[in-house]
Amino acid sequence: MALDVDKIRLDFPALTRQIHGQEIVYLDSAASSQKPESVLQAMDAAYRTSYANVHRGVYQTAEETTAAFEASRAKVARFINARSASEVVFVRNATEAINLVAYSWGRANLKQGDVVVLSLMEHHANIVPWHMLAEERGIELRWIGITDDFRLDLTNLDELLSGARLLAISAMSNVLGTINEIRPLADAAHDHDALILVDACQYVPHLATDVRAWDADFVAFSAHKMLGPSGIGGLWARAELLEGMPPFLGGGEMIRDVRQDGFTTNDLPWKFEAGTPAIVEAIGWGAAIDYLANLGMADVRDHEERLTRYALDALIQNFPTMTIYGPQDASIRGGAISFLFDGIHAHDISQVLDERAVCVRAGHHCAKPLMRHIGVPATSRASLYIYNTESEVDTLIEALAKAEDFFRI
Ligand code: ALA
Repeated sequence: MALDVDKIRLDFPALTRQIHGQEIVYLDSAASSQKPESVLQAMDAAYRTSYANVHRGVYQTAEETTAAFEASRAKVARFINARSASEVVFVRNATEAINLVAYSWGRANLKQGDVVVLSLMEHHANIVPWHMLAEERGIELRWIGITDDFRLDLTNLDELLSGARLLAISAMSNVLGTINEIRPLADAAHDHDALILVDACQYVPHLATDVRAWDADFVAFSAHKMLGPSGIGGLWARAELLEGMPPFLGGGEMIRDVRQDGFTTNDLPWKFEAGTPAIVEAIGWGAAIDYLANLGMADVRDHEERLTRYALDALIQNFPTMTIYGPQDASIRGGAISFLFDGIHAHDISQVLDERAVCVRAGHHCAKPLMRHIGVPATSRASLYIYNTESEVDTLIEALAKAEDFFRI
């Protein structure tokens, strides 16, 4: 069923914001999404009516807060089809999830000469932790290239995976919008006795996610791109992997016992959750998942695919001097659309768009190896979500036409 976007928009107070006397046109959800009333209310109610620390007190509000916190974990687990909530570790964001894997699994398992395979379309969050390990341990990084139509170049995948211990790859590029089919990549990695880590922070908000159907080993994602608050994200991993990994941060919650001569760790997933967690953020994330689940992820995807096609067609028809960096087929991509006018800097375009209250991101999008590969320092990026409309895309086109005129004169 088609999303009722007019009705959805009423749930998002931030979309009524006026900028320079005009209603905001928010096209930056790949950076962070807006939040519906239900998320704001769930967080407000948690603070106002039943707030305490989790897993500590035995009084009523402490038990209520702990139950709400753990109920959110169960919602996250269901949303990605995890076998059990104990496989979902709450972290601060997808970046922390990947760092946790690099620090804990990587340091316990990788030694000099071991190979980690990445792709050229990775976000820095899925590059820098491996560079850090390469500097510390002398591991080798290998790179899957990109085709002229902005897809993974898998022609030499077997060669790249030969002797590899891990394939760390994005499910959807935050710059190109390209969706990478994870199951065949997981099969290829496993055929070579390597594990697969999926950076799914641009994927989980937009398409139904099934970590078991992917046959993934580690999956990283964050709440703030999927209607939830910032400050919380998830690392999903197969329980046996988490069991075998040493803890990441030490402190409260992650211990079973501490003595003068050492410590033992808590059960999963708390073994990886040192210190007071993002309690109310977890509760807000649960409300965000309820909201998306209620819409239905198949309908979310249909809406975004249709709107992405509409936007791509409009950009291509209206701007012959524009390059779009990403697949032009909406069925194999998400709604993050990067573009550049020949000879005009992306930041200049974004500033002119701001005068029309159109919010897009400009820059290298934390993907500098990709930028170097495509040969530009920056792009503008419009990104679409459940609350965006064709009329907003029309406003983007009008504002871009004005911006192009302005800089060409
Ligand atoms: N990784 C986020 C983006 O692409 C912040 O904008």
